[in-house]
Amino acid sequence: PLLLLFTFSDFSMQNYIPRHEWPTVTCPFLVSQQTITPIDDTRHLLVSGYMDQRVKGLDVRIISIFNKNATHPMHCLFCCAGSLSTSTPASVFPHRENFGFPYVTTDVMCQIPQYPTKPSNHTWLPLRNRNKHLSDQEQLKFNFTVCISNLFGDYDNVLQFVQTLEMYRLLGVDRVVIYKTSCGRNLDRVLQIYSQEGFLEVVPWPIDKYLNPSPGWLFSRSGGDVHYFGQMTTLNECIYRSMERSCYVLLNDMDEIIMPYQHNNLMSLMDALQTQHPETGVFLIENQIFSKTIFEPSRRFHLPQWERVPGVNILEHIYKEKPNRRISHRYKMIIQPRMVEQTSVHRVIKTFSNKVKVPVDICGIIHVRDSYQEPGYKDFRMDKHLWDFQELLIPRVDEVLKKVELYKDYDD
Ligand SMILES: *[C@@H]1O[C@H](CO)[C@@H](O)[C@H](O)[C@H]1NC(C)=O
Ligand SMILES: *[C@@H]1O[C@H](CO)[C@@H](O)[C@H](O)[C@H]1NC(C)=O
Ligand SMILES: *[C@@H]1O[C@H](CO)[C@@H](O)[C@H](O)[C@H]1NC(C)=O
Repeated sequence: PLLLLFTFSDFSMQNYIPRHEWPTVTCPFLVSQQTITPIDDTRHLLVSGYMDQRVKGLDVRIISIFNKNATHPMHCLFCCAGSLSTSTPASVFPHRENFGFPYVTTDVMCQIPQYPTKPSNHTWLPLRNRNKHLSDQEQLKFNFTVCISNLFGDYDNVLQFVQTLEMYRLLGVDRVVIYKTSCGRNLDRVLQIYSQEGFLEVVPWPIDKYLNPSPGWLFSRSGGDVHYFGQMTTLNECIYRSMERSCYVLLNDMDEIIMPYQHNNLMSLMDALQTQHPETGVFLIENQIFSKTIFEPSRRFHLPQWERVPGVNILEHIYKEKPNRRISHRYKMIIQPRMVEQTSVHRVIKTFSNKVKVPVDICGIIHVRDSYQEPGYKDFRMDKHLWDFQELLIPRVDEVLKKVELYKDYDD
């Protein structure tokens, strides 16, 4: 049998085992410093362990990536306040949605045991979200966290990235989490600036060290070991990472802005939506594609100071495709993390609450990218809502670009 190992602190230990029963064996031996930890002698990868007592009889959830073919009996071993526990059997739950890839996001779940056992040499995984008494929304540090699943390749779309992050901030987002495999040189500097300031949390995601990640979402089309650089795993990881600190989590891509159309910010939007739908923790937001090849004709936001900045200027793209109601993958989500157990990209897989689709005139996604339709205005509608923010947005974007030394200063 294979052992999975977790550390456990004094603090949460008191809830499970009386002090006098704690044995004298000391542990842990080696705690993983990585975001991806391979399990010895298997092809499986562990990502992170979280306390999660929403599922009866199982206390701990380890977000993992498992090879579909390999089945080993699994056990969890805990290091509690410096002492070892007995092992408990692990239940392994592969996520249903895997788009045909051989490696699948998997939850490994275990019960916390009562008695000690013998030491072992494996790498240990820290256990997070141990603050189980936290229930009040008021105690949460953040109102809104945006989870951006994966940054890979030499992506260097600096202007759109900075504009997008500053828009998030104007809308009331407190934290952005990004899983980074790789990116372009300029964008890397931007990431450093936002991380130093504390708005951005960059989680290293060296999935390409362990697997051959697919650049696509469907195995039959793109091949590879795992869907989109492990996007489903990072989205789930981000929900659990945010569970004890953020009221809401927005699950969207780097080039997408979840935009309220009738409220000034996300908090007043959510206050209104939750009043209407009090039992709901999952809000589906419709995607709207703004063509990046159609420019607004007056070019009034073609600003000289941004000339040397690589990337798309979202203020210049105000023509959106007519919605295609036949596309099924057209939603992204705002969720309450504590209401969700497993998620996919466009829908949640397991939840403890209701879901609602939010009408697009209340809230929709501004997604500036290549259009699926032929260029030409007839199939597009003008949407200038982003311009309502320009007076606040432009100086903030300039400020960041100055710091990365991409800003062209005409006073020099
Ligand atoms: C899984 O097993 C099947 C059937 O034995 C085999 O065809 C396939 O190549 C295996 N896939 C991987 C990723 O090992
Ligand atoms: C643990 O690892 C050390 C060196 O890494 C080795 O000497 C020792 O025998 C190992 N102990 C067990 C119980 O495997
Ligand atoms: C969360 O929203 C409330 C109500 O709008 C606001 O008072 C508070 O400052 C916000 N908290 C953070 C961390 O932004």
